[in-house]
Amino acid sequence: MTPNPILSFDGVTKVFGSGSTETRALDSITFRVMPGELVAVMGPSGCGKSTLLHVAGGLERPTAGQVVTCGRNLGDISLAALSTMRRCDVGYVFQKLNLIPSLTAVENVMLPLELDGMNRRQARTQALQALDEVGLPGVHDRYPDDFSGGQQQRIAIARAIAGTRKVLLADEPTGSLDTLAADSVIELLATLARERGTAVVLVTHEPRFTAWADRVVYLRDGVVVDEAVMHAHTTAADLDDDVAASAQVRS
Ligand SMILES: Nc1ncnc2c1ncn2[C@@H]1O[C@H](COP(=O)(O)OP(=O)(O)O)[C@@H](O)[C@H]1O
Ligand SMILES: [Mg+2]
Repeated sequence: MTPNPILSFDGVTKVFGSGSTETRALDSITFRVMPGELVAVMGPSGCGKSTLLHVAGGLERPTAGQVVTCGRNLGDISLAALSTMRRCDVGYVFQKLNLIPSLTAVENVMLPLELDGMNRRQARTQALQALDEVGLPGVHDRYPDDFSGGQQQRIAIARAIAGTRKVLLADEPTGSLDTLAADSVIELLATLARERGTAVVLVTHEPRFTAWADRVVYLRDGVVVDEAVMHAHTTAADLDDDVAASAQVRS
């Protein structure tokens, strides 16, 4: 049984402006991401990578085509449902680290949960768990300035996955990091995909990161010009099939 994609684009077009200023940022894009999959999106500056993430996360509406994120068709859901989806199902990480310097690591991660109405104790529990998942246990009461750039990006990733976010949209998340810290952040994204089942869409300029991706999508002028499968993605359902198959062999 094939599981459903957590994110799907069908013929998605996004046009900014009109007439002589019209820009076709996305042009009939069809694209799917499965739970637990890490998809890298590459392409030259201005080819539509950030727009793809904005449309996937419901920050921009498509001009045409259908976007389904976490089972919700973004074309016809209410604004209230759209904002719930943005808060509960989708996390964002950017190149800029965007942490609040006057809040501790755990308070930074708790903030969106509390803004969303979660009580303080529960938000703290979830935030500590997320910091643990990004490999930063036991340092939650320090301030962002006490951490290296790579660690700050880990805190931002913890903030993006805290609660039960199913999709992580990362827009050049290593742009401000040195090589070592950058590799370690990408490795973390791959681990979150594999072990937590989070679907990760990673926009990057770095060809070497494709080694961690299940799939790479190449964009040019808003069009998918190439797609490469890096690793055959194994889903939980496939594993069940394997177990069933090997049980048959044994019997
Ligand atoms: N809000 C906007 N208004 C007008 N044009 C935009 C807007 N956002 C993006 N664009 C245009 O859409 C195209 C794709 O942009 P973007 O998705 O940011 O590309 P990338 O992230 O690959 O560099 C570019 O030509 C850009 O100028
Ligand atoms: Mg961009």
